[in-house]
Amino acid sequence: MCEKPVFFGDMNSLRDYIIDAAARKRALGHFNISTVDALWGVFRAARELRAPVIIGVSEGERSFIGVRQVAALVRSIREEYDYPIFLNADHSYSLEKVEEAAHAGFDAVIFDGAKLSFDENVVTTKRCVELVRRVNPDIIVEGEIGFIGESSKLLDAIPAGAEVNAEHLTKPEELARFVRETGVDLVAPAVGNLHGMLRGGGNPRLDIERIALLREAAGIPLVLHGGSGIADEDVIAAVHAGIAIVHFNTELRLAYRQALALSLAENPDEIAPYKFLRPAAQALERVVSEKLRLFWA
Ligand code: G3H
Ligand code: ZN
Repeated sequence: MCEKPVFFGDMNSLRDYIIDAAARKRALGHFNISTVDALWGVFRAARELRAPVIIGVSEGERSFIGVRQVAALVRSIREEYDYPIFLNADHSYSLEKVEEAAHAGFDAVIFDGAKLSFDENVVTTKRCVELVRRVNPDIIVEGEIGFIGESSKLLDAIPAGAEVNAEHLTKPEELARFVRETGVDLVAPAVGNLHGMLRGGGNPRLDIERIALLREAAGIPLVLHGGSGIADEDVIAAVHAGIAIVHFNTELRLAYRQALALSLAENPDEIAPYKFLRPAAQALERVVSEKLRLFWA
Protein backbone atom coordinates (compact mmCIF):
# COMPACT_ATOMS: atom_id res chain seq x y z
CA MET A 1 0.00 0.00 0.00
CA CYS A 2 1.33 3.40 -0.93
CA GLU A 3 2.02 5.98 1.74
CA LYS A 4 -0.80 8.45 2.34
CA PRO A 5 -0.45 11.49 0.08
CA VAL A 6 1.25 14.30 1.98
CA PHE A 7 -1.38 16.81 0.87
CA PHE A 8 -4.25 14.72 2.17
CA GLY A 9 -4.28 16.40 5.60
CA ASP A 10 -7.74 17.44 6.74
CA MET A 11 -9.08 17.81 3.24
CA ASN A 12 -11.84 15.42 2.32
CA SER A 13 -14.14 16.83 -0.29
CA LEU A 14 -13.60 17.65 -3.92
CA ARG A 15 -14.41 21.26 -3.02
CA ASP A 16 -11.42 21.30 -0.62
CA TYR A 17 -9.09 20.04 -3.34
CA ILE A 18 -10.32 22.54 -5.92
CA ILE A 19 -9.84 25.44 -3.51
CA ASP A 20 -6.40 24.17 -2.56
CA ALA A 21 -5.29 23.67 -6.17
CA ALA A 22 -6.50 27.12 -7.19
CA ALA A 23 -4.73 28.76 -4.23
CA ARG A 24 -1.47 27.06 -5.22
CA LYS A 25 -1.83 27.85 -8.94
CA ARG A 26 -2.10 24.16 -9.61
CA ALA A 27 -4.96 22.28 -11.23
CA LEU A 28 -6.74 18.98 -10.84
CA GLY A 29 -6.63 16.60 -13.79
CA HIS A 30 -10.00 15.29 -15.01
CA PHE A 31 -9.75 12.15 -17.13
CA ASN A 32 -12.59 10.37 -18.90
CA ILE A 33 -12.91 6.62 -18.81
CA SER A 34 -15.17 4.00 -20.40
CA THR A 35 -13.83 0.87 -18.74
CA VAL A 36 -12.55 -0.40 -15.40
CA ASP A 37 -8.99 -0.96 -16.66
CA ALA A 38 -8.88 2.70 -17.68
CA LEU A 39 -10.05 3.70 -14.19
CA TRP A 40 -7.12 1.77 -12.72
CA GLY A 41 -4.77 3.35 -15.27
CA VAL A 42 -5.80 6.87 -14.24
CA PHE A 43 -5.56 5.98 -10.55
CA ARG A 44 -2.09 4.45 -10.88
CA ALA A 45 -0.76 7.51 -12.72
CA ALA A 46 -2.26 9.90 -10.17
CA ARG A 47 -1.06 7.93 -7.17
CA GLU A 48 2.47 7.79 -8.54
CA LEU A 49 2.50 11.62 -8.52
CA ARG A 50 0.39 11.96 -5.36
CA ALA A 51 -2.06 14.03 -7.31
CA PRO A 52 -5.74 14.21 -6.41
CA VAL A 53 -7.72 13.25 -9.48
CA ILE A 54 -11.19 13.44 -11.02
CA ILE A 55 -12.66 10.61 -13.05
CA GLY A 56 -15.08 11.83 -15.72
CA VAL A 57 -17.85 9.88 -17.37
CA SER A 58 -20.02 11.34 -20.11
CA GLU A 59 -23.61 10.17 -20.52
CA GLY A 60 -22.42 7.47 -22.97
CA GLU A 61 -19.43 6.42 -20.88
CA ARG A 62 -21.44 6.08 -17.70
CA SER A 63 -24.26 4.19 -19.33
CA PHE A 64 -21.63 1.73 -20.65
CA ILE A 65 -20.11 1.08 -17.19
CA GLY A 66 -23.34 1.59 -15.24
CA VAL A 67 -24.18 4.83 -13.45
CA ARG A 68 -24.39 3.44 -9.92
CA GLN A 69 -21.63 0.95 -10.68
CA VAL A 70 -19.04 3.57 -11.66
CA ALA A 71 -19.91 5.52 -8.50
CA ALA A 72 -19.35 2.37 -6.43
CA LEU A 73 -16.03 1.63 -8.15
CA VAL A 74 -14.60 5.09 -7.58
CA ARG A 75 -15.81 5.14 -3.98
CA SER A 76 -14.25 1.74 -3.33
CA ILE A 77 -10.84 2.90 -4.59
CA ARG A 78 -11.11 6.08 -2.52
CA GLU A 79 -11.88 4.07 0.60
CA GLU A 80 -9.46 1.21 0.09
CA TYR A 81 -6.50 3.47 -0.68
CA ASP A 82 -7.67 6.45 1.42
CA TYR A 83 -7.07 8.49 -1.70
CA PRO A 84 -8.58 11.70 -3.12
CA ILE A 85 -10.17 10.29 -6.28
CA PHE A 86 -13.51 11.84 -7.28
CA LEU A 87 -16.22 11.26 -9.84
CA ASN A 88 -17.86 13.74 -12.21
CA ALA A 89 -20.98 13.30 -14.37
CA ASP A 90 -19.38 14.96 -17.37
CA HIS A 91 -21.51 16.77 -19.99
CA SER A 92 -25.04 15.99 -18.88
CA TYR A 93 -27.63 17.35 -21.29
CA SER A 94 -30.82 17.01 -19.24
CA LEU A 95 -32.11 17.56 -15.72
CA GLU A 96 -32.90 13.83 -15.54
CA LYS A 97 -29.28 12.83 -16.20
CA VAL A 98 -28.04 15.35 -13.62
CA GLU A 99 -30.51 14.07 -11.04
CA GLU A 100 -29.63 10.43 -11.73
CA ALA A 101 -25.93 11.11 -11.14
CA ALA A 102 -26.61 13.13 -7.99
CA HIS A 103 -28.66 10.28 -6.52
CA ALA A 104 -25.99 7.74 -7.55
CA GLY A 105 -23.41 9.47 -5.35
CA PHE A 106 -21.30 11.41 -7.85
CA ASP A 107 -19.07 14.14 -6.37
CA ALA A 108 -19.72 16.56 -9.21
CA VAL A 109 -22.09 17.07 -12.11
CA ILE A 110 -21.97 19.17 -15.25
CA PHE A 111 -25.02 20.53 -16.97
CA ASP A 112 -23.94 21.36 -20.50
CA GLY A 113 -26.17 24.04 -21.97
CA ALA A 114 -23.43 25.53 -24.16
CA LYS A 115 -25.50 24.92 -27.28
CA LEU A 116 -28.59 26.64 -25.87
CA SER A 117 -29.27 30.35 -26.05
CA PHE A 118 -27.76 32.31 -23.17
CA ASP A 119 -31.14 32.72 -21.47
CA GLU A 120 -32.13 29.04 -21.85
CA ASN A 121 -28.72 28.00 -20.57
CA VAL A 122 -29.10 30.21 -17.48
CA VAL A 123 -32.62 28.96 -16.70
CA THR A 124 -31.80 25.25 -17.07
CA THR A 125 -28.43 25.44 -15.31
CA LYS A 126 -30.08 27.26 -12.39
CA ARG A 127 -32.71 24.52 -12.14
CA CYS A 128 -29.90 21.91 -12.07
CA VAL A 129 -28.14 23.78 -9.27
CA GLU A 130 -31.34 23.90 -7.20
CA LEU A 131 -32.11 20.25 -7.86
CA VAL A 132 -28.61 19.07 -6.94
CA ARG A 133 -28.50 21.21 -3.78
CA ARG A 134 -31.70 19.48 -2.64
CA VAL A 135 -30.15 16.02 -3.18
CA ASN A 136 -26.81 16.85 -1.57
CA PRO A 137 -25.38 20.37 -1.09
CA ASP A 138 -21.83 19.00 -1.15
CA ILE A 139 -22.05 18.00 -4.81
CA ILE A 140 -20.17 20.41 -7.08
CA VAL A 141 -22.17 21.80 -9.99
CA GLU A 142 -20.48 23.08 -13.13
CA GLY A 143 -22.01 25.10 -15.95
CA GLU A 144 -20.78 25.50 -19.54
CA ILE A 145 -20.78 28.69 -21.52
CA GLY A 146 -19.45 28.98 -25.06
CA PHE A 147 -19.77 26.11 -27.53
CA ILE A 148 -16.52 24.18 -28.14
CA GLY A 149 -17.84 21.13 -30.02
CA GLU A 150 -19.26 17.95 -28.51
CA SER A 151 -17.11 14.93 -29.31
CA SER A 152 -13.86 13.56 -27.96
CA LYS A 153 -12.62 12.33 -31.33
CA LEU A 154 -10.22 13.08 -34.15
CA LEU A 155 -11.54 16.08 -36.06
CA ASP A 156 -11.16 16.93 -39.74
CA ALA A 157 -12.03 20.57 -39.09
CA ILE A 158 -13.07 22.92 -36.30
CA PRO A 159 -16.73 22.08 -35.52
CA ALA A 160 -19.34 24.55 -36.82
CA GLY A 161 -20.24 27.04 -34.10
CA ALA A 162 -16.96 26.53 -32.26
CA GLU A 163 -14.89 28.92 -34.35
CA VAL A 164 -12.08 30.53 -32.40
CA ASN A 165 -12.78 34.23 -32.75
CA ALA A 166 -13.91 37.14 -30.59
CA GLU A 167 -17.56 36.51 -31.48
CA HIS A 168 -17.56 32.91 -30.23
CA LEU A 169 -15.18 33.07 -27.27
CA THR A 170 -16.70 33.69 -23.85
CA LYS A 171 -16.91 37.32 -22.75
CA PRO A 172 -16.21 38.42 -19.15
CA GLU A 173 -19.51 40.28 -18.72
CA GLU A 174 -21.65 37.35 -19.91
CA LEU A 175 -19.68 34.95 -17.74
CA ALA A 176 -20.17 37.13 -14.66
CA ARG A 177 -23.92 37.25 -15.33
CA PHE A 178 -24.08 33.48 -15.90
CA VAL A 179 -22.36 32.74 -12.59
CA ARG A 180 -24.43 35.27 -10.68
CA GLU A 181 -27.75 34.07 -12.04
CA THR A 182 -27.14 30.29 -11.90
CA GLY A 183 -25.19 29.89 -8.65
CA VAL A 184 -22.79 27.28 -10.13
CA ASP A 185 -19.62 26.28 -8.27
CA LEU A 186 -17.48 26.01 -11.40
CA VAL A 187 -17.77 27.31 -14.92
CA ALA A 188 -16.20 26.23 -18.21
CA PRO A 189 -15.69 28.94 -20.84
CA ALA A 190 -14.64 28.89 -24.51
CA VAL A 191 -11.10 30.29 -24.67
CA GLY A 192 -9.72 28.68 -27.83
CA ASN A 193 -10.22 25.12 -26.56
CA LEU A 194 -12.09 22.45 -28.55
CA HIS A 195 -13.54 19.07 -27.75
CA GLY A 196 -11.51 16.61 -29.81
CA MET A 197 -8.23 16.92 -31.59
CA LEU A 198 -7.52 17.99 -35.14
CA ARG A 199 -6.10 15.10 -37.13
CA GLY A 200 -2.35 15.63 -37.39
CA GLY A 201 -2.35 18.24 -34.58
CA GLY A 202 -2.64 21.98 -34.76
CA ASN A 203 -5.46 22.73 -32.31
CA PRO A 204 -5.87 26.50 -31.83
CA ARG A 205 -3.84 28.37 -29.21
CA LEU A 206 -5.56 29.43 -26.00
CA ASP A 207 -6.37 33.05 -25.25
CA ILE A 208 -4.51 33.27 -21.94
CA GLU A 209 -5.29 36.95 -21.31
CA ARG A 210 -8.97 36.20 -21.71
CA ILE A 211 -8.70 33.38 -19.13
CA ALA A 212 -7.29 35.82 -16.57
CA LEU A 213 -10.09 38.32 -17.27
CA LEU A 214 -12.73 35.58 -17.10
CA ARG A 215 -11.40 34.27 -13.79
CA GLU A 216 -11.62 37.75 -12.36
CA ALA A 217 -15.13 38.28 -13.69
CA ALA A 218 -16.39 34.84 -12.59
CA GLY A 219 -15.13 34.99 -9.00
CA ILE A 220 -15.17 31.15 -8.99
CA PRO A 221 -12.68 28.60 -10.36
CA LEU A 222 -12.66 27.96 -14.11
CA VAL A 223 -12.52 24.59 -15.85
CA LEU A 224 -10.70 23.99 -19.12
CA HIS A 225 -12.39 21.40 -21.33
CA GLY A 226 -10.94 19.91 -24.48
CA GLY A 227 -7.45 19.48 -23.06
CA SER A 228 -6.37 17.07 -25.80
CA GLY A 229 -4.28 18.67 -28.51
CA ILE A 230 -3.57 21.86 -26.56
CA ALA A 231 0.11 22.83 -26.49
CA ASP A 232 1.70 21.98 -23.13
CA GLU A 233 2.86 25.57 -22.60
CA ASP A 234 -0.71 26.81 -23.09
CA VAL A 235 -2.06 24.33 -20.52
CA ILE A 236 0.56 25.52 -18.02
CA ALA A 237 -0.15 29.21 -18.74
CA ALA A 238 -3.91 28.61 -18.49
CA VAL A 239 -3.53 27.10 -15.03
CA HIS A 240 -1.48 30.10 -13.91
CA ALA A 241 -4.18 32.39 -15.31
CA GLY A 242 -6.98 30.78 -13.30
CA ILE A 243 -7.91 27.31 -14.55
CA ALA A 244 -8.46 24.91 -11.62
CA ILE A 245 -9.42 21.71 -13.49
CA VAL A 246 -8.27 20.47 -16.91
CA HIS A 247 -10.25 17.83 -18.84
CA PHE A 248 -8.68 15.23 -21.14
CA ASN A 249 -10.31 12.47 -23.14
CA THR A 250 -9.38 12.20 -26.84
CA GLU A 251 -5.66 11.65 -26.23
CA LEU A 252 -6.47 8.88 -23.74
CA ARG A 253 -8.87 7.20 -26.15
CA LEU A 254 -6.34 7.38 -28.96
CA ALA A 255 -3.50 5.93 -26.89
CA TYR A 256 -5.76 3.14 -25.59
CA ARG A 257 -7.01 2.18 -29.03
CA GLN A 258 -3.60 2.29 -30.73
CA ALA A 259 -2.00 0.17 -27.99
CA LEU A 260 -4.89 -2.31 -28.12
CA ALA A 261 -4.60 -2.65 -31.92
CA LEU A 262 -0.87 -3.35 -31.56
CA SER A 263 -1.44 -5.79 -28.72
CA LEU A 264 -3.98 -7.77 -30.77
CA ALA A 265 -1.78 -7.73 -33.86
CA GLU A 266 1.29 -8.91 -31.95
CA ASN A 267 -0.56 -11.61 -29.99
CA PRO A 268 -3.07 -13.16 -32.38
CA ASP A 269 -3.54 -16.25 -30.20
CA GLU A 270 -4.05 -14.42 -26.90
CA ILE A 271 -7.71 -14.62 -25.91
CA ALA A 272 -7.51 -13.53 -22.24
CA PRO A 273 -8.88 -9.97 -22.13
CA TYR A 274 -6.93 -9.10 -19.00
CA LYS A 275 -3.76 -9.90 -20.96
CA PHE A 276 -4.45 -8.37 -24.36
CA LEU A 277 -6.00 -5.24 -22.77
CA ARG A 278 -3.06 -4.57 -20.43
CA PRO A 279 -0.94 -2.54 -22.90
CA ALA A 280 -3.95 -0.35 -23.67
CA ALA A 281 -4.43 0.70 -20.04
CA GLN A 282 -0.67 1.17 -19.69
CA ALA A 283 -0.62 3.50 -22.69
CA LEU A 284 -3.49 5.50 -21.21
CA GLU A 285 -1.66 5.63 -17.88
CA ARG A 286 1.38 7.17 -19.58
CA VAL A 287 -0.75 9.91 -21.14
CA VAL A 288 -2.37 10.69 -17.79
CA SER A 289 1.03 10.89 -16.15
CA GLU A 290 2.38 13.29 -18.81
CA LYS A 291 -0.65 15.56 -18.45
CA LEU A 292 -0.58 15.60 -14.64
CA ARG A 293 3.09 16.54 -14.63
CA LEU A 294 2.17 19.77 -16.48
CA PHE A 295 0.26 21.19 -13.55
CA TRP A 296 0.79 19.03 -10.49
CA ALA A 297 4.22 17.45 -10.06
O1 G3H B 1 -15.11 16.71 -20.86
C1 G3H B 1 -14.20 16.13 -21.49
C2 G3H B 1 -13.10 16.90 -22.05
O2 G3H B 1 -13.45 18.21 -22.27
C3 G3H B 1 -12.34 16.18 -23.09
O3 G3H B 1 -11.87 16.94 -24.17
O4 G3H B 1 -11.43 15.00 -25.65
O5 G3H B 1 -10.64 17.27 -26.25
O6 G3H B 1 -9.58 16.01 -24.37
P1 G3H B 1 -10.81 16.27 -25.16
ZN1 ZN C 1 -15.64 18.52 -21.96
